[in-house]
Amino acid sequence: MVIRSLLRSSLKTQHGSCKKLGAALGSSQENLPRSLLLARFYGTEASLLKEDVTSYKGHDMLAPFTAGWQSTDLNPLVIERSEGSYVYDNNGKKYLDSLAGLWCTALGGNEPRLVAAANAQLNKLPFYHSFWNRTTKPSLDLAKELLETFTARKMGKVFFTNSGSEANDSQVKLVWYYNNALGRPNKKKFIARAKSYHGSTLISASLSGLPALHQKFDLPAPFILHTDCPHYWRYHLPGESEEEFSTRLANNLENLILKEGPETIAAFIAEPVMGAGGVILPPATYFDKIQAVVKKYDILFIADEVICAFGRLGSMFGCDKYNIKPDLVSLAKALSSAYMPIGAVMVSPEISEVIHSQSNKLGTFSHGFTYSGHPVACAVAIEALKIYKERNIVDKVNIIAPKFQDGLKAFSDSPIIGEIISHPTSHSLLNGASFSFLFTSITYLIRYMLLFWKSITGN
Ligand SMILES: Cc1ncc(COP(=O)(O)O)c(C=O)c1O
Repeated sequence: MVIRSLLRSSLKTQHGSCKKLGAALGSSQENLPRSLLLARFYGTEASLLKEDVTSYKGHDMLAPFTAGWQSTDLNPLVIERSEGSYVYDNNGKKYLDSLAGLWCTALGGNEPRLVAAANAQLNKLPFYHSFWNRTTKPSLDLAKELLETFTARKMGKVFFTNSGSEANDSQVKLVWYYNNALGRPNKKKFIARAKSYHGSTLISASLSGLPALHQKFDLPAPFILHTDCPHYWRYHLPGESEEEFSTRLANNLENLILKEGPETIAAFIAEPVMGAGGVILPPATYFDKIQAVVKKYDILFIADEVICAFGRLGSMFGCDKYNIKPDLVSLAKALSSAYMPIGAVMVSPEISEVIHSQSNKLGTFSHGFTYSGHPVACAVAIEALKIYKERNIVDKVNIIAPKFQDGLKAFSDSPIIGEIISHPTSHSLLNGASFSFLFTSITYLIRYMLLFWKSITGN
């Protein structure tokens, strides 16, 4: 019901916007340049209706994941403040932030305890580094807390970064360092999956299986290979069950390993649930079968938990949900509920021991960032972890998710909906994210259809 009325009100709003737009421009759609039509499709209400009033058009940022024409021809949507699940733009307009920022503001937009934790640390020690065996108490405490919180298997050490991309770049360096220490100089290739997203730095973009991240950037790097995307609904063969689909994908992975030579493959990286590539849940038995293959060939398993960790799937980590026993784990985003930039890599005790003994031989472990273990970011992350536990975030997700999934099912009869993502064993709020994609797509489609109709009829 709620969703249907939301959809209806969105339709009304979009229709209203188009009418206002037509009146404001007072010209026929046929004569409009493509960029303006696109601007209407992609623009915000602020950018469409107030473009003469707001003066950020042609701004000075080289904006991430934004086309040049968007920066030059449109006003950006400028968000000024946040409150719970809502954000407000510079015209005071309120929006439901259904993507939680970029899958990261898990505790909402104005959690006073996180602000207080940052303030207290800023007043005490705004910065000190963690190089040369110097460090700060918050970074030590956060490392300990993360190792205690992650229980899918015992992990050994935590390395801090500033983002998920840096975490995944660091994964590659750590694995190479590890294999060099073990005298396996040829075991250097990585296997990731089509449609995965692991970040946008040189190596994390290479790991990502999205062609847009490679195009014209001379990527992916040659040591990175991609295997199948585990999207059952899109890629299963006629009559193939989820289990059979998983078996086929595991066989394909094994064939790729054998073709390349197992002695050349260092690690396999996977998000427990794929996010940016389209909210893709693993089909039944997928991770059991994939883990068996990588184990067979002594290939490390990297779990990219950047969007899955800290309750989103109805478990503290995606590894808990899918019984993944990783060798390395990447974290970021909800680690600090995005109030401060921070990421982390957790490494198994076996790997950290090898890294330690290698660094003893070399004299140092020459990897790190000025802001690795930044005390303010760590203090905020410690507080975020405390809140997740105190408020039983995992239980809450499990209570809310079935209701949310039932609501989503209201869309299932629509001819423009292919799949409502829900998993028999998963009561997860990732559906929240898929819902937002879904909702955004529907809104855009309606918007597009209305503009198309208007361009034909002129009304
Ligand atoms: C699974 C996953 N890994 C890594 C990243 C990259 O994180 P960041 O944007 O913090 O570099 C993202 C970002 O969305 C992600 O979804």
